[in-house]
Amino acid sequence: MTTVIDDLAQLRDTVRGWTRAGERVAFVPTMGNLHAGHFSLVRLAREHADRVVASVFVNPTQFGPNEDFSRYPRTPEQDVAGLRDAGCDALWMPNVDTMYPFGADKAVQVRVPGVTDMLEGAHRPGHFDGVATVVARLFLQVQPDVAVFGRKDYQQLAVIRYLVREMSFPVEIVAAPTMREADGLAMSSRNQYLTPDERPQAAEIHRVLTSMRDAIVAGTAREKVESDATRRLAEAGFDVDYAVVRRQDLLEPSARDEALVALIAARLGRTRLIDNLEFQRPASAG
Ligand code: PAF
Repeated sequence: MTTVIDDLAQLRDTVRGWTRAGERVAFVPTMGNLHAGHFSLVRLAREHADRVVASVFVNPTQFGPNEDFSRYPRTPEQDVAGLRDAGCDALWMPNVDTMYPFGADKAVQVRVPGVTDMLEGAHRPGHFDGVATVVARLFLQVQPDVAVFGRKDYQQLAVIRYLVREMSFPVEIVAAPTMREADGLAMSSRNQYLTPDERPQAAEIHRVLTSMRDAIVAGTAREKVESDATRRLAEAGFDVDYAVVRRQDLLEPSARDEALVALIAARLGRTRLIDNLEFQRPASAG
């Protein structure tokens, strides 16, 4: 049974009741239009807690002026049905007035420095300020013990980890593995915009990520790995924003560290796709 809650006092009563009874509460924040990837986050949350709260809130402050906030897909009935099947206890669906009582343009802003300026942050200025601003609010509203974020949005995960550590939020962050289609394409709400011709091509991103990992592990220089990946994606019809190898923690450029991640953002037709692959570089490589 998933209780749908849109009133903050009711949310607080519900969560307080659970924590007073000694139950651990997990939280899965989303913007709705849920697919199998999101439901896997809910199932993972279940493994870490007695109760799971999910939220659906299409957050206006993380959309840029050229990104279509009003056309973001909203599928509440489908979302509730899927959350129920995935074992979610409560769905928090705040409206904009609850989230931003003085209006989204007058919101107190939370800004994480450094890691927000590169990669996605460089291509979507202000995006991570909006994410940090809403996630801080969601944590204060729900007050979970643990929160689950997908590794698919790798930089977002780094931003949230920084936010939690820096502001001492008493929330444990769990990173969930990326769910993939059979050909390796990472599951995403955006995949529905791919045309039938583009859909098989989109799996090239995962193949290129795998080649980037193999090349670094084999000792190829990072710059060459990145330029080869960019060329291969361009030849496959992508408009590439970045194809890079970074350190896992704060995403700085280095191929010397052992814990690395290859990250790609590229446009296929009108659809912008992102994906990544974590790997360990053996100390002996290169
Ligand atoms: O990953 C998302 O869906 C959003 O960025 C989040 C974390 C729910 C904040 O709006």
